[in-house]
Amino acid sequence: MLSRRNLIIGSGATLAGGLVLTPGAALSASGTIALPTDLEAERMITVTAAPTRANLVAMTFDDGPHPTYTPALLDILKKRRIRATFYVIGQNVARYPDIVKRMVDEGHEIGNHTWRHPFLTKLGSKNVLRELDRTSDAVYRAVQRIPVTMRPPYGALSRKQRAMIHDEREMPTILWSVDPEDWRRPGSTVVASRIVGGARPGAIILSHDIHGATVKAMPAALDGLIEKGYRFETVSMILGRRDWSKLRWRLPKLAQG
Ligand code: NI
Repeated sequence: MLSRRNLIIGSGATLAGGLVLTPGAALSASGTIALPTDLEAERMITVTAAPTRANLVAMTFDDGPHPTYTPALLDILKKRRIRATFYVIGQNVARYPDIVKRMVDEGHEIGNHTWRHPFLTKLGSKNVLRELDRTSDAVYRAVQRIPVTMRPPYGALSRKQRAMIHDEREMPTILWSVDPEDWRRPGSTVVASRIVGGARPGAIILSHDIHGATVKAMPAALDGLIEKGYRFETVSMILGRRDWSKLRWRLPKLAQG
């Protein structure tokens, strides 16, 4: 079986057996996941919006999954055939793996939002990577795939840390270009109008699926965007990367885990 110990995330990671893995490397007999080779060429370290003139936006939802609000949001998205990206907190994934499974089954992308939502700027590299790896591991356990982008809690991550994460885990740091500040609980009408009013081609829109008012705002926000001619893509897609749901994660037969 695949154990946490031999689930290797990203490049340059050292296997329990001492082997060093690089992305796109041929699979060895050891327990490794080879990252898709298209990630190797990317030099995208920090992203706030997508460089596109097309009427595309990416909805992103942070801090979940939440046991009731997230399923309600998934219903809203499904009804409109909208695919979004969820920046999940690892310990919530461990609690609600079935909700993460549903997200993936319905075409959404999963991003990494750390294990326990700390201020990463206060942590050293080792602990930053631990926050990310634990979360990717929980996501892997739930849906047999791992996030390829991360978002720092509070958007707080130094330039040096962003480069370190890119080097060590091949993950670009995804920030946002539209922030309705839903966490301040301004009410669902305000949240919806800020989202619709703030949208531009290539916008990455931040919201949180742990607030009832945010989920309540979504029908009006999404319909407002549709009315303005916007279409929705996941973060990977809007950045011109391969559709995360279609990435093929090659898993070798594992030795004793
Ligand atoms: Ni957050």
